[in-house]
Amino acid sequence: MATDSFAEYSAEIRSAGPPVDLLVRRARPDDVPAMAVVEVAGRGGDAGVAEAGLRRWLDRDRSALFLAETGGAVVAWASAQWLGADGDVAMDPGYYLAGCTVDPAWRRRSLGRLLTGARLAWIGAQCAQEGEPPMAWYFANVRNTASIAMHREFGFAEAARAERIHGVTFSGDGDVPGTGALFRAPLEDAATTRG
Ligand SMILES: CC(C)(COP(=O)(O)OP(=O)(O)OC[C@H]1O[C@@H](n2cnc3c(N)ncnc32)[C@H](O)[C@@H]1OP(=O)(O)O)[C@@H](O)C(=O)NCCC(=O)NCCS
Repeated sequence: MATDSFAEYSAEIRSAGPPVDLLVRRARPDDVPAMAVVEVAGRGGDAGVAEAGLRRWLDRDRSALFLAETGGAVVAWASAQWLGADGDVAMDPGYYLAGCTVDPAWRRRSLGRLLTGARLAWIGAQCAQEGEPPMAWYFANVRNTASIAMHREFGFAEAARAERIHGVTFSGDGDVPGTGALFRAPLEDAATTRG
């Protein structure tokens, strides 16, 4: 999936609440085409490629896809999955927030927050069931300040920076090379925050 189509950072406004009929739920195979449309609207790229990637994640063990719908339409999706040890960065294997795209027309309505809360609840349950340490991870381009701001309230703290994380490279800015940041959050903290 694309890694360099970021929402513009704006600290001047606060996110509004979600629409009253918003439903956040686990995604099913028949949701994939609508999720791919959201991915292309939000981050560009090809719908067929997005669909194939989403189906792979849906079929994977220790992986969950969530979506948000309103008025019967899918307007955002997000995923969480187990990632093994990373040859690029010294880190533990763990459960990751592995993607989240909100349709541009529905941003700053708390959908990213709600999808992140749902994913962290799922990760917490998985860790408890599997006897894993209650910890969640994610990584992002250091320039994706909107995404980093969205995760902050869930207790994520930066653990490392690298040019490659889990095989992903990051777009730079002009002459500045791309860098990713790896974050982790203990889930006791996440459970006490919004979402
Ligand atoms: C990042 C993204 C998922 C946020 O989704 P969203 O539904 O608009 O975010 P929310 O309304 O839930 O915002 C929750 C909090 O995140 C922060 N935030 C979200 N978008 C922000 C922005 N553009 N600028 C500054 N802060 C932002 C704010 O702290 C906000 O809380 P507050 O305004 O109430 O204080 C969305 O912008 C998106 O799809 N971006 C493109 C894809 C992407 O970068 N995904 C993340 C990959 S790691």
